[in-house]
Amino acid sequence: MQGFEFHNPTKIIFGKFTIGKIGKEISEYGVKKVLLLYGKGSIFKNGVYDKVTKSLSKNGIDFIELGGVKPNPVMSLAHEAIELCRNKKIDGILAAGGGSVIDSAKVIAAGVLYEGDIWETFEGTGKAEKALPIFTVLTLSATGSEMNPYSVITKENENKKWSFSAGSSTYPKVTVIDPSVQSSLPAEQTVNGVVDALSHVFELYFNGVPKTDIQDEIAEGIIRTLIKHGRILLKEPDNYESRAQLAWSATLALNGINSAGRGSGDWSTHTLEHSVSVFFDIAHGAGLAIMFPAWMRYVYTENPAKFARFAENIFGIKTGSTEEKAIKGIESLKNFYKDIGAPTSLKEVGVKNEDLVKLTENASLREPEGKLKKLYRDDILKIYELAYA
Ligand code: NZQ
Ligand code: ZN
Repeated sequence: MQGFEFHNPTKIIFGKFTIGKIGKEISEYGVKKVLLLYGKGSIFKNGVYDKVTKSLSKNGIDFIELGGVKPNPVMSLAHEAIELCRNKKIDGILAAGGGSVIDSAKVIAAGVLYEGDIWETFEGTGKAEKALPIFTVLTLSATGSEMNPYSVITKENENKKWSFSAGSSTYPKVTVIDPSVQSSLPAEQTVNGVVDALSHVFELYFNGVPKTDIQDEIAEGIIRTLIKHGRILLKEPDNYESRAQLAWSATLALNGINSAGRGSGDWSTHTLEHSVSVFFDIAHGAGLAIMFPAWMRYVYTENPAKFARFAENIFGIKTGSTEEKAIKGIESLKNFYKDIGAPTSLKEVGVKNEDLVKLTENASLREPEGKLKKLYRDDILKIYELAYA
């Protein structure tokens, strides 16, 4: 096992009727006036807005609202919010929503205290180490952003969907997860959440690092739980137990537990997906359902035994050679995605054959990508071709 440091400072408050606790948690940080950030309005329909604002008022916390964060969030709104926070003397950010809202909260929180344009830190030409305290009320389990320091934002005019963190300062201080508010998710968003969380586990599980017994057991447990409860939720969207199992699994998929002892993940499939969602504005989870099986087909020969183990422990495939099992496992994953209604080819989401070069250029900006296999421009094009059919 590799040596590691593990410290995740985010406090999680998990369960039914927990949203009302957020105000007291914020006041314990001495925060007096927050920016309440949300998306396109789901929080008004499922009661989250009322619960959050009541809790803020009850605890004497002043707030200014900013809605309109869109899926695949953009820098222009973040820039607008940074100015607003500076002008209104905001001293904390409260995100109520899914990954897009939380990711925006992180870049805003760091941007307020950064001298210069916070985008520099995405480019690597600047470094942010401070941020206003961030609090979140999670309404969509998928990204793990509720308990990690990362933020993925699109710079629209340059077609760059890139990520940053400002070290430990962009971990949310407190996250409230009431899984019952996720019953209002459209089925396809539940599916996107399952796929995204699975993909986070895959990025780590298939990173090529050996001697990872405990890490693999944890990873496989998360994978099986996501598959089981994802299926249940498509039939019973109000099933609280399954919402809770899915929610905690998605958080564990990318809060550091899974990477401790195995080092960093591969992350090339995420890079390839981000290029798809930057041009075609599809959901991140939908893009990953297309890209992961394609990446797996391209790289499994780097570590066939691991892919065979995946096939056996996740899909019960016990017969055949190592190579045959590996391939059957990848096919089973693709079939699972089809079963739950996720797209499995780029064609299905409107990508044309002639777009593959544009996608390749975009995903190769910082080549090589990946860890299990280093991917260069030609490799990336081949993976897009596999994903296209
Ligand atoms: O905007 P509203 O009206 O709130 O609607 C949202 C949005 O349309 C809706 N929604 C959220 N909670 C709901 C709900 N609808 C009904 N009931 C609820 N309870 O769901 C839609 C999608 O929301 P979004 O926040 O975009 O989804 P998600 O959580 O999947 O976040 C995706 C973004 O996170 C990035 C992705 O690239 C993408 O931009 N990622 C962030 C990561 C991180 N910070 O660690 C890692 C990931 O790999 C990922 O890249
Ligand atoms: Zn992801």
